[in-house]
Parts: sequence; C-alpha cells; structure tokens
Amino acid sequence: MAVRLCGVGDNVVDRYLHLDCMFPGGNALNVAVFARRAGAEAGYIGIIGDDVSGTVVRKALIAEKVEITRLRVNESFNAFSQIGIDRDGNRYFIGSTPPPYRLRLDREDLAYVASYDVVHTGDYGQVEGQLAELSAAARLSFDFGSKLADYAEPLLPHIRIATFSGSGLDDAGVLALIRWAQARGPDTVIVTRGAAGSTIAVGEAIHHEPAVPVTVTDSLGAGDAYTATAVVALGEGASLPEAAHRAAAAAGEVCTRLGAFGHGAPMAPLPVIATTD
Ligand SMILES: Nc1ncnc2c1ncn2[C@@H]1O[C@H](COP(=O)(O)OP(=O)(O)OP(=O)(O)O)[C@@H](O)[C@H]1O
Ligand SMILES: [Mg+2]
Repeated sequence: MAVRLCGVGDNVVDRYLHLDCMFPGGNALNVAVFARRAGAEAGYIGIIGDDVSGTVVRKALIAEKVEITRLRVNESFNAFSQIGIDRDGNRYFIGSTPPPYRLRLDREDLAYVASYDVVHTGDYGQVEGQLAELSAAARLSFDFGSKLADYAEPLLPHIRIATFSGSGLDDAGVLALIRWAQARGPDTVIVTRGAAGSTIAVGEAIHHEPAVPVTVTDSLGAGDAYTATAVVALGEGASLPEAAHRAAAAAGEVCTRLGAFGHGAPMAPLPVIATTD
C-alpha cells in the first residue's frame, strides 16, 4: 500500500526576477508534491490567494495529482518570494512576503489529516500552535530549516521526523545536533548540507549519504525533495542507506532544473499590498 503524506502550511510563488517567470513552491507544498512523485498518495492543506499566482499554485497541485479537498482560497494575493541572481550567477532571496492570512486547522482538517500516515509542516507553516493536534492525527514531520535551539526545543516533543539544514556544521556538529534532537522527541532526524551531502538517523542507526554530483542550475527545493523522498522510502520499509540514496538522487535531480518542481508561468505583476503606516 502506498504511503500517504499530507503537507500542511506554506505555499508561495517563487518569482525569478532575472527570468521574468515564477514557479510554485513553499516547503509544505513542495514536500507534498515530491512525496507524490516518490510514489506516495499526497494531500496539501494551505491557503492560496485569488490572484494569478494562486491559480498557478492550484493548477500545479492538480497536475501533480496532489489532493486539494481542504485547500482554501483567500480573497487576497498569494504569498511570494522574490529571487534575484548576483554577478557571479548565484541565486539569492531578496525577500519573502508572507500571506495576509493565517491557516487555522479546524476539526475537519484534523480528521482529514488522520487519514494520512505522515503529516509534514515546517518553520514557515505557521501552524506551530497546533503541533500537538497534528501529532495526534498522524506521524509528524517538521522542517526546521536553519533554525536551531531556541525555536526547535519546545516543538521537538511533538515531532517524529525532524529535518535541519546544517550547511554550517562539521561532522561532529551534525552528530551532536542529531542526538540533541532525538533526546527531545523525534526518532528520525535528517540533516542536509548541500553539496556536502546529508545524514539520516533512525534511532541509534546513522547513515551519511554523499550528494550526487550534478551541474547545478537551481538548488531551490532540493532539501524539500530530499525530505519527501526519504520519508516516503522509510515509510515503505526501505533500509536507511536505500532511503538516503533515493533522497539524494531526487534532490540532485531538482538541482538541475529551474524552480522547485517546475510548472513555471510568466511573471505576474506584483500585488498591490496595503500598508498601515
Ligand atoms: N550543489 C549540489 N550538488 C548536488 N546535490 C545537492 C547540491 N545542493 C543540494 N544537493 C542535494 O540536496 C540536498 C539538500 O540540499 P540543502 O542542504 O541545500 O537543502 P536546504 O538547505 O533545505 O535547501 P532548500 O530548502 O533551499 O532546498 C543535499 O543533501 C544534496 O543531496
Ligand atoms: Mg530546506
């Protein structure tokens, strides 16, 4: 039986200013899409805007066969990130504009989530206040990005699978982070370090996986592909090395393409955002 994974929380359009195009993205949404591509049945709960960008996100979810029965549409613009490219050709985030709305999961959402094996959210998901309820509904996976101690510590007891971006860490630092996190809740901890590869621990077992050498076009979304693929593989009963291997292959593939998972669209005008000052 297929693993079932539901992404809960953030979506954005990633606006590539130098290319005049935009792509659907956001951690919770990307993980749902990449889980589906890895063979899972996937769903996504979040809020999109009622503008062109929101339509791009919704159409991509439909095309990727991610279930969207609990997707909300808000009468506003869709959340977005602005991405530029520097003189050396490196991509950088100019900034993110969060959505002018907040996801609040109701009883029906939580009953829906309970029909999944795994629910995934993260540091941009805006559902930190409902982790206990999510954790009661399904195995909870959380991407902390590069946020460590102060942010992570109170959340970890609810979490079964934790992902960290650990590019600044050496091998000893990765091991210390994994054991620190595991002592607070998760049985499974994933630490990714870009081209330096990744480490996954499940209980006492630990495995380091090198990155697949690729010509990098755009690494955006690679971490999300990694987490989704590893979580699905482990859920299917794959061994730890096999799961890490599949995850690194999927993540490497993402690096070779523009956008997180494709579905690029012509750039829409920036929304007019009301300010209070
Ligand atoms: N330059 C690269 N070459 C090959 N593989 C890469 C490269 N960058 C990333 N990867 C693959 O993707 C995985 C995740 O990358 P990374 O650690 O950069 O994720 P991240 O910090 O979550 O970034 P993002 O959230 O932007 O995707 C790595 O462990 C590796 O397998
Ligand atoms: Mg990431």
